[in-house]
Amino acid sequence: MTTLVVHESMFGNTRAIAEAIAADLPGHVEVVDVTDAPTPLPAHVDLLVVGGPTHAFSMSRAGTRRDAVGQGAAHEHEVRGIREWLGGLPRTPHVAVAAFDTRVTKVRRLPGSAARAAGKVIARRGLGRVVAVESFYVEDVSGPLLEGEVERARAWARSLVPAAHPR
Ligand SMILES: Cc1cc2nc3c(=O)[nH]c(=O)nc-3n(C[C@H](O)[C@H](O)[C@H](O)COP(=O)(O)O)c2cc1C
Repeated sequence: MTTLVVHESMFGNTRAIAEAIAADLPGHVEVVDVTDAPTPLPAHVDLLVVGGPTHAFSMSRAGTRRDAVGQGAAHEHEVRGIREWLGGLPRTPHVAVAAFDTRVTKVRRLPGSAARAAGKVIARRGLGRVVAVESFYVEDVSGPLLEGEVERARAWARSLVPAAHPR
């Protein structure tokens, strides 16, 4: 099984979740920042795990990433988000895809989720079969992750394996 984990992260929290997910997946696992993510998806990828921060109830946009830089994030993360990367991918309907995001715990009752938005785009554009969508929580805009979220991400990664296997 070959997995590609693509993460977008302004303050490092989504990247930390992506690395935890990658550490608990079997087989060959590659982890890349969305800035370096390949287009098209390499043919040998069985499972794509894609994650980003929830910005304004959805996936980030150029403007929300600019806002994050204004709040202290590194400028290099402003260039591209998972919305733009997914938007440039050709159809790969056979690939299993799991989407995750990070969100602020205080507003967890609000419906907006980058992972859910990504899942909709993936399904609509034939970029894969969505096998899981999940949110992980941070205390505030720049983090940190809530206690236990890294362990929850590891368990989530293990739960993806059966869904990712059959082709
Ligand atoms: C411009 C902007 C908009 C945001 N909008 C939301 C939101 O709608 N809902 C939410 O839960 N968190 C929101 N957040 C908080 C982000 O989800 C949080 O910064 C992110 O999870 C941190 O992950 P990162 O370190 O990987 O960037 C927003 C943050 C920024 C900078």
